[in-house]
Amino acid sequence: MRLREEAQNMRLREEATTQRDRHSGSRRRPDERLREEATTQRERHSGSRRRPDERLREEATTQRDRHRSSALRMTPPARLLEVSGISKRFGGVQAVRDLSFDMARGEVLGLIGPNGAGKTTVFHLLSGFLPPDAGTIQFDGRPIVGLKPHAICRLGLARTFQIVRPFPHLSVLDNVRVGALARRPQMADARAKARAVIDQVGLGPKAGHAAAGLTLAERKRLELARALATEPILLLLDEVMAGLNPTEIEAIVSLIRSINEAGVSILLIEHNMRAVMTLSHRIAVLNFGEKLAEGEPASVANHPRVIEAYLGEEYVHPSAG
Ligand SMILES: Nc1ncnc2c1ncn2[C@@H]1O[C@H](COP(=O)(O)OP(=O)(O)OP(=O)(O)O)[C@@H](O)[C@H]1O
Ligand SMILES: [Mg+2]
Repeated sequence: MRLREEAQNMRLREEATTQRDRHSGSRRRPDERLREEATTQRERHSGSRRRPDERLREEATTQRDRHRSSALRMTPPARLLEVSGISKRFGGVQAVRDLSFDMARGEVLGLIGPNGAGKTTVFHLLSGFLPPDAGTIQFDGRPIVGLKPHAICRLGLARTFQIVRPFPHLSVLDNVRVGALARRPQMADARAKARAVIDQVGLGPKAGHAAAGLTLAERKRLELARALATEPILLLLDEVMAGLNPTEIEAIVSLIRSINEAGVSILLIEHNMRAVMTLSHRIAVLNFGEKLAEGEPASVANHPRVIEAYLGEEYVHPSAG
């Protein structure tokens, strides 16, 4: 019980810190992003991709298994997530403005946009950490605006935080057990689930280590493990690759892909263009809180308004000025 309360308090502390720290941290320059994007354009057709209908079938199976208890529901709603007209203002800043998008079951949707575009705010609104000023959110067929974060989490929507803050003195296993308790109140059961998730994210050898001693890459995996331990249907990942080196990024990209292939839908905020283009089935682009473009990765990357938002107008109209 204490662990659960601590988990809740920790999330609130993290939230406060995220708000303070959101503009800190290392950011890459636009030209680096462009280079990455160009590489992605070359590579976007490589790698094994399953078709959406295959994913849909697998996801339907996962849904049946996961929600055996809700057998009364004959057919699951067609869309996993339906966001309609959500807005959020902070004083003079319109962080999110009349934003609508949806997600299919089994989908990976990338959410990209320049710093301050409103991406993390969207996560706060979806996960119940902040109420929207307007708009509706349906998750798995239920309206979720107004529900508390833990209630939304229990429905199957889990998130990671941009600023990673595990309990430093608790072991990796206990940190993840906090997440597992959301759905498994029995300690032994939660512990077994935590152990399995730790192995899944490749932290097995560190299970007994204090979180404080982990490297950044390991802490990112721990953050992912804590969210996964809540057994989500939809996982929101906020910059889980920030600060990682290319080898670590490659490893986490594979991990995210395997999580998705196991039936978990993923909404991915990511500044690493190559990773987001590789992983996403579709991408939505935010700018000043509004949706600028949405579509398949290749078309979004070539969209003039997207290039302009990231690089400035001169890249779109090089002769002008
Ligand atoms: N609690 C808050 N109080 C005041 N302004 C806020 C708050 N949270 C976010 N903002 C502002 O809302 C806008 C969107 O911020 P948000 O953190 O959602 O952007 P982001 O797209 O996640 O950016 P980044 O890529 O830098 O993480 C920014 O202008 C930010 O300064
Ligand atoms: Mg953010």
